[in-house]
Amino acid sequence: MEKSAKIVILTGAGISAESGLGTFRDEGGLWARHRIEDVATPEGFARNPDLVHGFYNARRTQAAAAAPNPAHQALARLQREHKGEVVIVTQNVDALHESSGAAQVLHMHGTLAGALCSACGHRWAAPLQMQTGQPCPACAAPAGRPDVVWFGEMPYFMEEIYAHLAGADLFAAIGTSGEVYPAAAFVDEAHLAGAHTVELNLEPSATASRFAERRFGPASEIVPDWVAELLT
Ligand code: APR
Repeated sequence: MEKSAKIVILTGAGISAESGLGTFRDEGGLWARHRIEDVATPEGFARNPDLVHGFYNARRTQAAAAAPNPAHQALARLQREHKGEVVIVTQNVDALHESSGAAQVLHMHGTLAGALCSACGHRWAAPLQMQTGQPCPACAAPAGRPDVVWFGEMPYFMEEIYAHLAGADLFAAIGTSGEVYPAAAFVDEAHLAGAHTVELNLEPSATASRFAERRFGPASEIVPDWVAELLT
């Protein structure tokens, strides 16, 4: 691959699985234990904010105790050592890319570390445990919520992400089931832009056939190997 190639990487819960954070759709995953409509929709939050804060408080505590694994570290190495631009777009709300030293991480589904005021749109650093009626530091309304994108809400940074995909020479999807749009269609955008596309996953995703190349195995093994190859 040429030295100045632009690389766009999409990551999903699978890259954080070996750091001990649960995925959503695997056996025993988060959606096997919680109903999406109860904990990951605006309607669910309006119906029972305590339940939703409890769900995210537990994930915030778990994420705070997790450490990046070799897959996160390999992507940070790629960003440091590759001559061209390396953009990481993640569906994950944990901060493991950042704590492995990655930069320019676009959290399209928001972050556990963020709090958002439903009344005035102010954002601030979420406390480890949020509670119902969390007062907004800016407008004082009791309208604080996790700054996470719920089903039915617009993902963040979409314009910027499509611009990156339009200029990509290489697109990789790592640890994502390809079940949720718009992320699941990024491979098509990259392909249209003439990029080489590769899926790195434990097993074939729902969009596996749309990739030019597929590599299967645990991210902590196949991602460092893939990065080492790119850098030689
Ligand atoms: N290494 C690599 N891939 C793995 C590993 C691993 N150790 N463990 C699991 N995987 C793969 C699974 O095979 C699966 O394809 O990671 C993928 C996880 O898929 P999901 O649980 O659906 O997670 P994700 O694709 O990130 O979900 C997308 O859905 O619920 C919403 O907002 C939520 O961001 C999430 C979005």
